[in-house]
Amino acid sequence: MSNFNINVGENNINNILNLNLFGINFKNPVFLAAGVMGETGSAMRRIAKNGAGAVCTKSIGIEKKPGHNNPTMVEVEGGFLNAMGLPNPGIDEYIEEIEYVRKQMHELDVKIIGSIYGKNEKEFAEVAEKIVDYVDLIELNISCPHAGGGYGSSIGQDCNLSHKVVSSVKNLSDVPVVAKLTPNVTDIKEIAVSVEDAGADGITAINTLGPGMVIDIDAKKPILGNIYGGMSGKAVKPIAIKNVYDIYSAVDIPIIGVGGITTGRDAIEFMMAGASAVQVGTGVYYRGYDIFNKINDEIKEYLLKNELSMNDIIGCVHK
Ligand code: DHB
Repeated sequence: MSNFNINVGENNINNILNLNLFGINFKNPVFLAAGVMGETGSAMRRIAKNGAGAVCTKSIGIEKKPGHNNPTMVEVEGGFLNAMGLPNPGIDEYIEEIEYVRKQMHELDVKIIGSIYGKNEKEFAEVAEKIVDYVDLIELNISCPHAGGGYGSSIGQDCNLSHKVVSSVKNLSDVPVVAKLTPNVTDIKEIAVSVEDAGADGITAINTLGPGMVIDIDAKKPILGNIYGGMSGKAVKPIAIKNVYDIYSAVDIPIIGVGGITTGRDAIEFMMAGASAVQVGTGVYYRGYDIFNKINDEIKEYLLKNELSMNDIIGCVHK
């Protein structure tokens, strides 16, 4: 059962959303998830100006990658399927995007989470070494469900490989490291324990579900260029909540909850399951860029109305 100390603001309208996680002070617990609006510095700055406590980059690798052919994203009932194909300019070029907005992020008091991917611990370490001086926190993408080729969930579905990747990045610096886990496993607790044992400072849960597939019956063809892709959005929320609940019961490191959050009530549900902070990705499509301010206001309203602090609700359903 989680047993860490996170300092949060008490029942005071000005600091009730403040929290210290992994030794970092965040002005609020609502962060931008990897993969959405994290491709460029200016997109991240836009999210930062709309109230996020932290922004996460698109997952970045060593080499430039063009991504899959279009369509790479399709709306389905209850969410979206995506298979972007990890498009990114490669770490050397991407650093310029972070450089471009770093000062403004600092002025806005918004932290930067660097999401990185690789196909083994060596590649992860290589990217981490290059990004480490530019970010506040590193998030390891060991969970993309359709990456193939030894990337993504093929690491996160294996305790030993997950352990190796986390240790290699932890050995590099003092910057906190969180592992983003896939729900597409038999027992997420085993993977959570293995990344904790490797020294992870926290866990982000969950990445997209599946993969799934949609067919255009008029064209008689799959819609996505990659044929299948990961499911995100409102429909995945109950699965994400269950995974956060299970992880909280198995480890002592903080959890960042993600999966289908569009309202303050959703965020509070994740906190009650055990998340100390949350990330929002697909929700941006439903409620606009301003979703970060909206969710923060809704969490604040709930806490003040019920005379609670975030500490009172984090993991409260386990008691
Ligand atoms: C992609 C999709 C994901 O769900 C993920 O975790 C990483 C990358 C993508 O296709 O780019």
